Amino acid sequence: MVQEFDKVGVVGLGTMGAGIAEVFARAGFNVIGVEIDQAALDRGRGHVDKSLSRAVSRGKLTEEERAGIDARLSFTTSREDLADADFVVEAVPERMDIKRDVFGDLDRICPPGTILATNTSSLSVTEIAALTGRPDKVVGLHFFNPAPVMKLAEVITTVSTSSDTVDVVTEVAKRIGKTPIAVGDRAGFVANALLVPYINDAVRLYERKVASREDIDAAVQKAAGLPMGPLTLADLVGLDVCLAVMDVLWEEYRDPRYVAAPLLRRMVAAGRLGRKSGQGFYAGT
Ligand code: CAA
Repeated sequence: MVQEFDKVGVVGLGTMGAGIAEVFARAGFNVIGVEIDQAALDRGRGHVDKSLSRAVSRGKLTEEERAGIDARLSFTTSREDLADADFVVEAVPERMDIKRDVFGDLDRICPPGTILATNTSSLSVTEIAALTGRPDKVVGLHFFNPAPVMKLAEVITTVSTSSDTVDVVTEVAKRIGKTPIAVGDRAGFVANALLVPYINDAVRLYERKVASREDIDAAVQKAAGLPMGPLTLADLVGLDVCLAVMDVLWEEYRDPRYVAAPLLRRMVAAGRLGRKSGQGFYAGT
């Protein structure tokens, strides 16, 4: 069945959506990227262009391969253009009202056999699936930032997901070069349930002035050999995303270890969201 896949839609071309579109196009799928208006579409296309240019300049892609990828990528502001999509990944902002709007449209526009995946990191996949008339064909397909680089893809199933859908999505994840893991629909899934409280703990150490942000980051990098420290990682992931994951973990478990650090909440309120807003724990990230 996966072999028959041709056209993949990606709805939302922010940091994650643009990376996801790139991943599918690099794997040989025809990708149609959808954004809400021309300005957002231009920004999304810019993310993809920048990432592909970087791969070319580092000798990871030839100009010829890049031209092939560009030819497989198309962009639109009309969701109606997904009428013949075989598979759609949604990566729009983490608000249920926006998801409702998108999944309502996708359910109406896409053929009944089209599988709809959400890249949500903090909303319930079960609730998103229930927004459609095809909950058996809705899954979470959760990528990690930067999507073209990080190898994990969480395949999140709900009580409604069919085993056929799981098989297809797992196969698709492998086809795009990711390592899929099967995960139930619980707050934070697996990776974020581990990673984000760790980031939150680092924010707590920082706000209690236990150490400087550089030393907190250095501690983990040097002690555990991770590629970046937790505060740098928070800036990469987005402080708003971290906060949303903490809040959903708290909602689900009411465990004090999941209470968001006050500084994290204040930084988000101040619009200091990390790399995406130009300022987070580090300035000019
Ligand atoms: N887009 C595309 N490619 C990128 C990239 C981006 N934004 N950033 C880096 N890369 C590529 C580079 O082109 C380079 O590729 P090659 O090795 O093929 O040349 C490679 O990644 C390494 O990049 P750099 O040498 O520039 O920098 P680095 O070695 O410091 O690596 C990093 C950068 C990959 C981001 C690395 O620091 C890292 O792995 N950090 C941890 C990231 C992480 O933990 N992500 C998960 C966050 S949790 C999440 O995302 C889930 C959620 O829902 C919140």
